[in-house]
Amino acid sequence: MENNCIVEPTTANIQRAADVLRAGKLIGMPTETVYGLAANALDASAVAAVFQAKGRPATNPLVVHIASSDRLADVCDLALLESMRGSIEKLAGFWPGPLTLVLPKSASIPPIVTAGRPTVAVRVPFHPVALALLQCCDLPLAAPSANRSNYVSPTSAEHVRQGLADHVALILEGGICERGLESTIVSLVESPPHLLRYGALPAEEIAEALQVPLDELLRPEATSGRQVGDGDQAPGLSPEHYAPLTPLLFLSEYDWSNPPPQIGLIAFRTLAEDSRRFAVIEQVSDSNNVYEIGQRLFAALWRLDQLELDLILIDTCEETGLGRAIMDRLRRATFRARVSRTSS
Ligand code: TXA
Ligand code: MG
Repeated sequence: MENNCIVEPTTANIQRAADVLRAGKLIGMPTETVYGLAANALDASAVAAVFQAKGRPATNPLVVHIASSDRLADVCDLALLESMRGSIEKLAGFWPGPLTLVLPKSASIPPIVTAGRPTVAVRVPFHPVALALLQCCDLPLAAPSANRSNYVSPTSAEHVRQGLADHVALILEGGICERGLESTIVSLVESPPHLLRYGALPAEEIAEALQVPLDELLRPEATSGRQVGDGDQAPGLSPEHYAPLTPLLFLSEYDWSNPPPQIGLIAFRTLAEDSRRFAVIEQVSDSNNVYEIGQRLFAALWRLDQLELDLILIDTCEETGLGRAIMDRLRRATFRARVSRTSS
């Protein structure tokens, strides 16, 4: 099928993707974190199609991708940015990379992109295909993760095809995402800067670069998992997110008194558990290596969710460094099953 197909990132196909974006259509774009559902950020109707395709509430703003920090003027209000220059310079070394900064928006970015907010979330991705595309199309690209709203994030072109094939003109093949977890989001419009979402860049590294205590960077919103509403800083951090359709619970909390027949396990290390309890085991790391876990976590959830299991149990890891982002995702992904278990 010509439409909706995954294409190799040749120069010709990157050019084609740029043409399609200029024509107001959507594409699947690889990044080092997760695949994005990309649209021309300057085109309000293309951006409306992103919200529609994802089933995303209009109150939840998008991340805008630019080719380099030299292009900040395309998306930000430079006059308002002035007071944040010091922090931007301290963090500039993380770009290109998995860091998103919330900054004052320029008038050229339509309100739909930022859900009416005066700020815009911006990042320079590290993936060579994303960078080549951004350079070729010469546009800022609004790109949330290319999954249906609240479902597991996509870390391969095939995940994008399975979730959103009917909504994209093409998907650029970029291989398996190297990091596998979304970018870390830091707001620079607050003083001192504030981490809004844990992600692929460890919070500790950001605090060190900004020369602020970690506790100050991590104020409660990023960790609490509460439902956020108007007036909150990180509108996309709902307590339920990244969730497979199959109930997902933590192995460490599971009460084995009445197990269903088909249970899958996602393990982060070689576990002492009796393997006969499980219909399938996904060993994403043998040794609790957070880089391996981060890279493979969403793919493992995606795979097990297709096996029509009754339940998926998942391991935990230590909450430092990348482990903070991993446990943050897992608390949200297990939220529905944990709540229905305690209320039944
Ligand atoms: O790694 C990533 O960031 C990926 C890739 C594709 O770049 N994108 C991504 O986008 O994760 P999305 O839409 O799934 O998550 C973006 C998050 C949401 O929680 C959203 O609420 C928040 O960023 N966000 C966007 N604009 C914001 C703003 N102006 N202020 C506060 N939060 C914002
Ligand atoms: Mg997302």
